[in-house]
Amino acid sequence: MRIYRTKNYDEMSRKAADLIAAQVVMKPDSVLGLATGSTPLGAYRLLIERYEKGELDFSEICSVNLDEYVGLSADDEQSYAYFMHSNFFDHINIRPENTHIPNGLEEDTALECHRYNRVIGALGGIDLQILGIGSNGHIGFNEPGDAFVPDTHCVELAGSTIQANARFFSSPDEVPTAAYTMGIRSILQAKSIVLMASGKAKAEALYRALHGPVTPALPASILQLHSHVFVVADEEAMSERFNPF
Ligand code: F6R
Repeated sequence: MRIYRTKNYDEMSRKAADLIAAQVVMKPDSVLGLATGSTPLGAYRLLIERYEKGELDFSEICSVNLDEYVGLSADDEQSYAYFMHSNFFDHINIRPENTHIPNGLEEDTALECHRYNRVIGALGGIDLQILGIGSNGHIGFNEPGDAFVPDTHCVELAGSTIQANARFFSSPDEVPTAAYTMGIRSILQAKSIVLMASGKAKAEALYRALHGPVTPALPASILQLHSHVFVVADEEAMSERFNPF
């Protein structure tokens, strides 16, 4: 595990963008595992800028997103598919057919989970996985629980996750209560992982993820078992009794 402590969100974004850009340059046909949410937005903006300057080419890149709300269509502004298109895909030369996101409209959850596992398998797994972290320690939408769930599954969102994500909706009642998420095994099988965190609200979860016991009660703690994790976090996210190695 390598830890980059940055001054603030902008520096965190620059460091994460550097790592992602290096992956794209070194392996132009990489499979990128992508996250949504506030945390990676700055990094996506910087990658778009580098693409516009001609420094990056995404034409052979494939992507698999971590998760999607159940019940939202790809053109719903609150869906993660919409987020990825408006904040990243539509501004770079990734081929739409090379981007993969769970289908929030599929009502047959077993069918959709099976389909998404096959998509990940057919791509040969993930080269670089980008992760944010929930303030309850979730990664993707693998919420705290009694066991790590290995593969894509449909999950009831934790109350704290619904509250945290309500900022994107006009009221908490509109936040979907379920989501499809990639499982822990798919995440852990990525060749390398960039875990990003910013802000005080993430400090306790990040501390426990890095220094606490490996437990499904704090899903991000599983990352301690992966040998190629880059943690890129700002001072506030690292402020919890943090003792840099
Ligand atoms: C999003 C995802 C989530 C977020 C996490 C942090 O695709 O998988 O695990 O990374 O909820 O969200 P933000 O970045 O909005 O604080």
